[in-house]
Amino acid sequence: MLKNDTFLRALLRQPVDYTPVWLMRQAGRYLPEYCATRKQAGSFLQLCKSKELATEVTLQPLERFPLDAAILFSDILTVPDAMGLGLYFAEGEGPKFERPLRDEAAIKALVVPDMRELRYVFDAVSSIRTALDNRVPLIGFSGSPFTLACYMIEGGGSDDFRRVKTMMYDRPDLLHHILEINARTVTEYLNTQIECGAQAVQIFDTWGGALAYGKYQEFSLAYMAKIVAGLKREHDGQRIPVILFTKGGGQWLEDLAATGCDALGLDWTVNLADARRRVGDKVALQGNFDPNALFAQPAAIELEVKRLLADYGNGSGHVFNLGHGISQFTNPEHVAALVQTVHAHSKTYK
Ligand code: CP3
Repeated sequence: MLKNDTFLRALLRQPVDYTPVWLMRQAGRYLPEYCATRKQAGSFLQLCKSKELATEVTLQPLERFPLDAAILFSDILTVPDAMGLGLYFAEGEGPKFERPLRDEAAIKALVVPDMRELRYVFDAVSSIRTALDNRVPLIGFSGSPFTLACYMIEGGGSDDFRRVKTMMYDRPDLLHHILEINARTVTEYLNTQIECGAQAVQIFDTWGGALAYGKYQEFSLAYMAKIVAGLKREHDGQRIPVILFTKGGGQWLEDLAATGCDALGLDWTVNLADARRRVGDKVALQGNFDPNALFAQPAAIELEVKRLLADYGNGSGHVFNLGHGISQFTNPEHVAALVQTVHAHSKTYK
């Protein structure tokens, strides 16, 4: 039995005493203890591959702040790495692939990897569940098929998605082939995380918002909907909520809500009251504090938190979060002020 199931209850729009909160990238470089463990591991990837160290850093933010959920410490790019693309992190440059998908032969050779290649992720999930001892639920995650494809085709981050978009308009069949493989892989990957103990799952569609109207529905949303339809929604007698987060996807909330997911992650460009009106009682909402507002002093942070809570209004169905990952330049004391204000101030709305 979970000691604190407020997060799961809010995702399922069941009554809660306060608004639960967790933060995207809550384990990361803004915490000095994370930097120390990462140094000990040698590299970010080695940190992901050690279940002991991945467990340690997953729990670090929970030791500091009374967060209502833990998120598996890993990365979305472990999946293309398991497909043989060769993930590496060049210092100061972000993620890169040694063998990006650059020609038709490579694309046609792509297959759903053996889940044993991702065994270290599932081992971390089991290990984190044991260490959490039911304090709060554990969130599992994956990238969306489209967001993964962006990295797989570009070979790293990109400002303009030149290669992906060229393929999308010239050879949509090739992009669809990649997305189909990615969707099947992600479904298996998330279902295995659920079997190993993930109590909710989130799909990060970081780049879906870069697509044109119509292309988003065809190349990103459709594949997330396919995954939602293929996920185990119950494990050990517990409902497993699914959260979809398309950054920059505020204009497509009705489409996202129609996929059958339980909750939508929102970035900070969306008004919560308006979003709530648009999705009705179909899904819960997660978000959407501007992560850069955490650079301001605690008094300003408190003001913004109160504004968001007022925007959502009365009742359950809101999980407080940032609109994107926390910056490495964030002062941890400001995070403490945010969490404290969410917990204290949200009670008046329940
Ligand atoms: O939220 C958490 O605390 C869980 C861990 C988590 C990480 N990455 C750890 C990480 C999660 C959920 C992710 C998801 C992820 N990874 C996404 C989707 C969410 C988003 O931010 O849009 C994406 C696009 C990636 C790919 C990725 N991984 C990038 C672009 C980078 C470099 C950016 C950076 O901050 O350096 C990473 C590296 C990464 N993933 C770090 C962490 C803590 C920093 C690694 C380090 O210690 O240097």
